[in-house]
Amino acid sequence: MDLKNIFAEIVANDALHARWLNTLSLMENTGARKISASEDPATVTYIILKHAAEEHRHAFYLKKQIEKIEAVNCPTYAPEYLLAATHSKRYLNQLDIDVCRYLKDKLDLHGKELRFSAYLLVTYAIEVRADELYPVYQDVLTGALSKVNVKSIILEEEGHLEEMINQLQQFSADWQVHADKAVAIEARLFEAWVESLSKEINTAA
Ligand SMILES: [Fe+2]
Ligand SMILES: [Fe+2]
Repeated sequence: MDLKNIFAEIVANDALHARWLNTLSLMENTGARKISASEDPATVTYIILKHAAEEHRHAFYLKKQIEKIEAVNCPTYAPEYLLAATHSKRYLNQLDIDVCRYLKDKLDLHGKELRFSAYLLVTYAIEVRADELYPVYQDVLTGALSKVNVKSIILEEEGHLEEMINQLQQFSADWQVHADKAVAIEARLFEAWVESLSKEINTAA
């Protein structure tokens, strides 16, 4: 099943849709916490603070969108309120682990340097994904005349990708090689996540 079909099935079913919004909220929150955790208390910049604040806002905004779906409640990130709970919780952590391993093996990075470069590459890969995923979801929402919308997130995610590219250009002359590697690592994890999502939707249908 491709993304558009998966989203169409989700949006057509209120219970699934609420859990989907909650799942996106969880993933945004995981991203936000990861950015905050990688901040160096002394050298953290305006752009990193802005990015962390916006990802935290996305988590809250998506949670708030659930209120637009009547009679369904997802009070916490407990597995019963999520879709593909295991994969959704694992996706970002595994991406971080795999990218860190790559950076250690390829560039022999450690400590602060490793933390900062992992932040750049992991976040870049996620922003590439977000720029693909949210517009497809928004198209389905618009087509279904849903009250839910993610347009403000799309706008900010586009800004994030540009900001990540700027930071990567300053970080390394051959940033694209490493960024492509991060995107390839992410693509495998994303595929597994989509498969798990699609299985769960088929069982629910
Ligand atoms: Fe986000
Ligand atoms: Fe973002």
